[in-house]
Amino acid sequence: MENNTIIKIENLVKQFPVGGGTFTALNGISLSFGKGEFSGIVGPSGSGKTTLLNIIGSLDSPTKGEVTVMGTGSGGMNAKTASQLRKKHIGFIFQTYNLMSVYTVYENVEFPLLLLKMPASERRKAVLDAIEWVGLTDKIKSRPPQLSGGESQRVAIARAMVKRPGLVLADEPTANLDAANSHHILQTMESLNKELKTTFLFATHDDKVIRYLKRIVTLADGKVVSDESVK
Ligand SMILES: Nc1ncnc2c1ncn2[C@@H]1O[C@H](COP(=O)(O)OP(=O)(O)O)[C@@H](O)[C@H]1O
Ligand SMILES: [Mg+2]
Repeated sequence: MENNTIIKIENLVKQFPVGGGTFTALNGISLSFGKGEFSGIVGPSGSGKTTLLNIIGSLDSPTKGEVTVMGTGSGGMNAKTASQLRKKHIGFIFQTYNLMSVYTVYENVEFPLLLLKMPASERRKAVLDAIEWVGLTDKIKSRPPQLSGGESQRVAIARAMVKRPGLVLADEPTANLDAANSHHILQTMESLNKELKTTFLFATHDDKVIRYLKRIVTLADGKVVSDESVK
């Protein structure tokens, strides 16, 4: 694996049991992504984008093939090692934000650091920095029901970024946002990509996201049908 490679996928196959047989959701995917990329998995609904992102993030495992993320292979990796890797080095952003509605913005962003058992003094600075990166310092004590969709997704970005992960995976992050909010969160992620060199990988079929991507990998029926860099 080259030094600069953050994700390497070789001959990945993912099958799900359905009825009496199996459904092949990913059918022989080979791809690699370098550090600092701002790229996306694109394709129609059902093409396998979420399945691929979940396997990269160790939320799911391959049926066949190898997936290596930051030098740690999924092949021989046990579930505990995989989940450690995920907690430490990967941030997730989901379509539905997945925020805890009874907790404040501050507490939602702090949560991943409690799981990592970061000491309180370091934690406070990391949380305040992450909230500042997404421009929500004035909403620190608000709770998710008091926030707009765009603000909620920015909290989710801060929560994904608070550990300063090497890799952020974002699955349809704009699906519940209007055009203005979509552009705002894409601009936020673009500047985090530039300033902190965080690698971003999206799964999306939204043109508002696609126009920001520097590299577009297109899936159809579980296969890569094109892989293009955008000038
Ligand atoms: N747990 C599962 N069991 C059975 N089929 C699944 C499962 N997860 C995904 N699939 C199927 O795999 C295909 C790809 O799904 P998905 O990765 O969610 O696509 P996308 O994110 O591109 O819309 C779909 O046909 C979907 O129905
Ligand atoms: Mg999906």
